[in-house]
Amino acid sequence: MRSTFVVSAFAALALAAPRPQDIEFDLVDAAPDPVVSAAPFTGSSETVTLQPAAAVVTIADASVTDTATTNDKRDFLEVLGKRDGDCSAQPKGTGPTVSTPDDSPSSFYAYQAFQDAATNAATAQGTPQGYSLAFHNLQGSSQTVSYLGYKTLSSYDTIACASYCDQHPQCQAFNIYFERDPTLDPNADSCPNPPSLTNIKCVRWGVQIQAATAVNTGEHRDSFEVVITGSNGYNKNAAPPSQTGFTGPVELGGAINAPNDPVTNTNTYMGYKFFSFSTVQTYAAGVQACTLACTAQTAYNSRHPPSTGKPNVCNQVVVYVLSDENQPQGIYCAMYSEEWASNYATNYGQYRGSDYWSVSQAYAYTNATYSASYGPICAVGGCPDNSFRGGNCGGWGVGTC
Ligand SMILES: *[C@@H]1O[C@H](CO)[C@@H](O)[C@H](O)[C@H]1NC(C)=O
Repeated sequence: MRSTFVVSAFAALALAAPRPQDIEFDLVDAAPDPVVSAAPFTGSSETVTLQPAAAVVTIADASVTDTATTNDKRDFLEVLGKRDGDCSAQPKGTGPTVSTPDDSPSSFYAYQAFQDAATNAATAQGTPQGYSLAFHNLQGSSQTVSYLGYKTLSSYDTIACASYCDQHPQCQAFNIYFERDPTLDPNADSCPNPPSLTNIKCVRWGVQIQAATAVNTGEHRDSFEVVITGSNGYNKNAAPPSQTGFTGPVELGGAINAPNDPVTNTNTYMGYKFFSFSTVQTYAAGVQACTLACTAQTAYNSRHPPSTGKPNVCNQVVVYVLSDENQPQGIYCAMYSEEWASNYATNYGQYRGSDYWSVSQAYAYTNATYSASYGPICAVGGCPDNSFRGGNCGGWGVGTC
């Protein structure tokens, strides 16, 4: 997709032009599709087991060999098959039962106490410390990648739900809501539409959530309608964890779009990796995979040095969630031989055909050896006066490039 100058008079200009860092899609297209999930309507809790931490090392290493990445789609969720029920009594609900004016989805939606609970929890006081409100009082629960399990709560308690999220080291978000469930397991012949009960559910996620993915609006179980209301979503504010051998994370407003090094006029962009959420499962694991891949790329480059000059070192890796029309797809890692300041983080997303691909939760990590010697390059308006202006030849030193 890079434009090439064919007119020879412009050849020199073309060489000097920085390598653009638009979102590239080759690896995105090659990656397995992310697995989208939602909390099931039956049961009262579910635990999700993630792959062992060591799997991330394997995934990161695999991304820097010449062989194609393994298509190791991991369906880590139990898929519940649809079956007819047996009229057995279901666990008692945890919220108030709605029977006025009648026991119906419309009465459930209209029930004032549910609206009040969701609205009160959407205020600054109702939002747990360390979290931000993503959406409130919707009639759908989250359906997206990186499902980390759920439990029922005895009240619409956002603090309790936040603490359930906090108990999982990779949790990034939680969704709390009222669900209309049947008192008996519906059976087409004997109990097609039993009286309802109300469950208050708390679901945790390994990615941030948003209104666009609160689309799981319920289901029919025979004639009984499972519906949802008062659905509030909250995202964790914390930056991702620090990574061994790197400084950061430095929060960015978008992806970096760096020019050439301002002193040497050389390109610093080393290409990218992409990890589907079906491979890394969570945002935190994806961030770790990016930094591991950066290190593995440096090692690979030094084992395969160029015929002249020094091998490139991945000194900065910029990580972010790439979403297609608000649906998170995976973690994108852009690699640089020099560290750029957040002033260059100007790529918030781009169109591909009619789809908008957006950048979110962007952070930069820098090789700690590199950042002990150099600051981030900042040579545009708004940079602090004493900013590093470049010219270190990818950390190998002045005059070596
Ligand atoms: C940092 O860069 C050095 C080369 O200068 C490299 O040997 C080392 O592996 C890098 N560290 C990380 C964590 O990538």
